[in-house]
Amino acid sequence: SHLEPVQGPLTGKHILITAGPTHEPIDPVRYIANRSSGKQGFAIAAAAARAGATVTLIAGPVTLPTPPGVTRVDVETARQMDAAVDAALPADVAIMVAAVADWRSADEAQQKIKKDGSGKIPPLHLVENPDILATLAKSDRRPPLVIGFAAETNDVLAHATAKLARKGADWIVANDVATHLMGGEVNALHIVSASGVESLPEMTKDAAATALVKRISDAIA
Ligand code: CTP
Ligand code: CA
Repeated sequence: SHLEPVQGPLTGKHILITAGPTHEPIDPVRYIANRSSGKQGFAIAAAAARAGATVTLIAGPVTLPTPPGVTRVDVETARQMDAAVDAALPADVAIMVAAVADWRSADEAQQKIKKDGSGKIPPLHLVENPDILATLAKSDRRPPLVIGFAAETNDVLAHATAKLARKGADWIVANDVATHLMGGEVNALHIVSASGVESLPEMTKDAAATALVKRISDAIA
């Protein structure tokens, strides 16, 4: 369907968003992945489009509908997500919500690995995936506002503050996945930046997306 262009505080801005997990194949039927529903990233894409932005949503394997007015690029692996981010530049804002698998199999099998009946366990050798956020934040095509996400089980603010520096991001949006189980409908976000921490109350992922997009509009206005 053709939608009327939305006028809003982000009209004329290109916002690049990654969302969902990545799948790293071990063989044609098995993969390594992080837990991620994609709901928060898709909600942010929808909120940014409602605010008038041109939105590119680079999505790992999820079963969610594309929000209205959003350009979606589907990928499977971290390396594909990295290439899709690069291809979508330039952008005014990057929001990396994806739960990227940190490692992939060093030697992806082209045929299904079979149990041979002996009980012997096949070895799984891992190599590190590219860090999409850190690469982008340090590149010469860095968007003016780079935002990372961090799902933590403990010491949420300490880990988020450390990631802010390590990744070179402007903001890290952290959430405690010990209290807010992944895949649920609500979130309590902490926005960590050089100017401190803003903790939002628990709200639906749609409301959290709207709140975050409001802060982005204020920051780049
Ligand atoms: N990220 C990324 N590419 C990766 C890993 C992470 O772009 N290979 C991004 C995520 O999308 C997120 C941020 O980096 O925005 C933080 O991800 P997280 O997994 O919390 O950070 P890690 O440095 O991988 O640390 P951890 O050991 O906690 O997994
Ligand atoms: Ca990680």
